[in-house]
Amino acid sequence: MTSILELTLLPFDLSQIQALHEACWPEVPFDHLLDLLSNIVRRCEQQRAWALTALQGDRPVGFGQLSSWTRGAEISDLVVSVCCRSQGIGTALISGLLDIAQQQGFQEVEIGVAENNTRALALYQRLGFEIKQRIELDLGDGPELVLYLKLALTGQEAT
Ligand SMILES: CC(C)(COP(=O)(O)OP(=O)(O)OC[C@H]1O[C@@H](n2cnc3c(N)ncnc32)[C@H](O)[C@@H]1OP(=O)(O)O)[C@@H](O)C(=O)NCCC(=O)NCCS
Repeated sequence: MTSILELTLLPFDLSQIQALHEACWPEVPFDHLLDLLSNIVRRCEQQRAWALTALQGDRPVGFGQLSSWTRGAEISDLVVSVCCRSQGIGTALISGLLDIAQQQGFQEVEIGVAENNTRALALYQRLGFEIKQRIELDLGDGPELVLYLKLALTGQEAT
């Protein structure tokens, strides 16, 4: 468990789903979110993923996961409640996930971001991630450009 002032990062568990739905994914149908998060819990139990919830007091305000794939480790599903953005919570979640990646022995971590998500891209680059690939993907809303960034962990720490 990591605490930064009143912000706490805890391993995700399904008891947080209702509050996380309201705070972070109000536009996503609950059943869809339940499927996504249940799958993440299964992967966490298999030590193939590690998911963190960010709480302010006892209120969930953010979520992110680190996944282990054959090609390496990836941070995904990063989200902070609209009301709580630009307070360092996204940075804290990434930092917590990078700590886990380091503990698990990963040497680098990948993160994907739509090219037009300029704020998230700026955040990742501020934390030292570097663009490695630019791919056109259709994630459901038609073709879009997705950037894949990587951060080498050896001797690196998120700030
Ligand atoms: C991306 C996201 C997780 C960042 O969380 P956050 O708590 O706002 O991030 P932080 O406060 O740690 O960092 C903010 C910095 O990141 C960028 N940023 C990201 N989102 C921002 C937002 N909504 N408003 C302002 N700046 C934002 C800015 O460069 C900002 O720089 P600053 O430190 O000079 O203010 C959050 O904006 C979010 O949930 N966005 C919607 C979901 C999403 O796009 N997820 C990423 C998918 S790849």
